Amino acid sequence: MIAHDSYKSIPDFYAGKTVFVTGGTGFLGKVLVEKLVYSCPALNKIYVLIRETSKQNVLQKLKQLLDSPIFTRLKNERPEDLNKIVPIAGDLCKPNLDLEPSDEEKLIDEVSVVIHSGATVKFNDALEYAMKINYQGTEQVMRLCRKIKNIKVFVYISTAYAHTQLDIIEEVIYPPPARVAEVYETIKRHGNNEKNISKILNGQPNTYAFTKALAENLVAENHGDIPTVVIRPSIITAGITEPLEGWVDTWNGATGILHLMGNALCRVLPGNKHSILDLIPVDFVCNLTLVAAAKCNSSKKVTILNSCSGSCNPITLKQFCSLYCNVAVKRKTNVFPFPYLILFNPHIWMLKVMSYFLMTMAGLADFVMRIFGKQTMLFRTQSKLYSIVKSLRYFLIKSWLFKCERVCALNAELSDLDRAVFNCDPSTIHWEQYAQIYFDGVTKFLLEKPKNLRTDASNN
Ligand SMILES: NC(=O)c1ccc[n+]([C@@H]2O[C@H](COP(=O)([O-])OP(=O)(O)OC[C@H]3O[C@@H](n4cnc5c(N)ncnc54)[C@H](OP(=O)(O)O)[C@@H]3O)[C@@H](O)[C@H]2O)c1
Repeated sequence: MIAHDSYKSIPDFYAGKTVFVTGGTGFLGKVLVEKLVYSCPALNKIYVLIRETSKQNVLQKLKQLLDSPIFTRLKNERPEDLNKIVPIAGDLCKPNLDLEPSDEEKLIDEVSVVIHSGATVKFNDALEYAMKINYQGTEQVMRLCRKIKNIKVFVYISTAYAHTQLDIIEEVIYPPPARVAEVYETIKRHGNNEKNISKILNGQPNTYAFTKALAENLVAENHGDIPTVVIRPSIITAGITEPLEGWVDTWNGATGILHLMGNALCRVLPGNKHSILDLIPVDFVCNLTLVAAAKCNSSKKVTILNSCSGSCNPITLKQFCSLYCNVAVKRKTNVFPFPYLILFNPHIWMLKVMSYFLMTMAGLADFVMRIFGKQTMLFRTQSKLYSIVKSLRYFLIKSWLFKCERVCALNAELSDLDRAVFNCDPSTIHWEQYAQIYFDGVTKFLLEKPKNLRTDASNN
């Protein structure tokens, strides 16, 4: 579409503005921070909420962030713009985000766009902990938004899997899975007792999806007059082109299991061969977030955007896994010959028996290898695989249709230039090419481990 006279480009929207981002040190957040500074050169500043740990203070974490290879193009082309990335010490779990009063004042006076991406993405964190980060953290960010003098838009990064009780997920708000008061009551009475917790989850697969669903409702009900966008990504995977082709820095999500499969270390998965595998490259989620903040800020209603590929460019689990295995064969990296995948839907007891059998075989094989002085890894791999499969089983055997008409419409409204720089239309993904890009990205950025890659892969 040709841009008309009154069209304001995406970089123009960010010109002179100051943005506050949470989760800026995470997989998606890093890409967001880099893209914003790189592709919106007239941006004023970006404040990044960073939590200190006992091992690293805020400045050390900022250094680690900027040392990431994804900042190479900025360093080469406009190194002075790295100074626009300003750390703010804080913690989503703490009252008022644990902000220093002087930092809070700066945020209140200067910021006009808030992007809240920070979360715990571990599927099975204790409910109390997941509530603290994903629910109360969102509450604290919204409280700050209400104090910000010139807020133009608030963007909340949710997940497409917050509503898996439905088969078709539209770009609308759904009722919460539980009443928040009841959730706190359950935590108070039963602590982390699994049985009681699973009752309150009310059909949600884990504490992550549950707390993200509650946070979505919190956002929808409490944004007041602040124009608000909720982005719901499906499974975020390696970048197609940006910030680097194939960029990925975590084994979470689909990456770990695809890698094991490509190596022929995983040949059987619970799943249905007709299930849609809804992957969305990280650059698409990042671009949609930046586009949405720029273009969906005039309505006082919440705009929901499903950042998903399955409804407009579907590929099945079986098809994508085959494409990925073909690349492994082409690159000759598979540990065992003929990587392939069998999908079937076993009972949980059958899955357990199979896994224990495979672990025993792997243990025996390791024992023999050790006798011959060879490196052993099969038992470790099988155990890891079992825990990944257990946590992903629910998502592999079911299939959802995440509608994304609004995302496609938004993409169509962009000028040709904006659409080229901020592509967020999943129908443009060519899966065969992408499998190759993804595979090579895993090899380059995770296996060959450039310095400063995260090593904190969690269970999902
Ligand atoms: N990855 C996916 O496949 C996927 C899919 C759908 C939706 N999402 C959503 O996308 C967003 C980003 O996910 P991601 O994959 O980038 O996750 P991630 O890599 O685990 O990053 C999480 C970010 O949140 C920060 N954070 C966590 N707890 C915090 C706290 N108490 N105080 C301050 N910061 C805290 C982390 O900081 P530290 O560096 O200190 O840990 C990190 O920057 C999340 O909201 C997630 O729910 C992700």
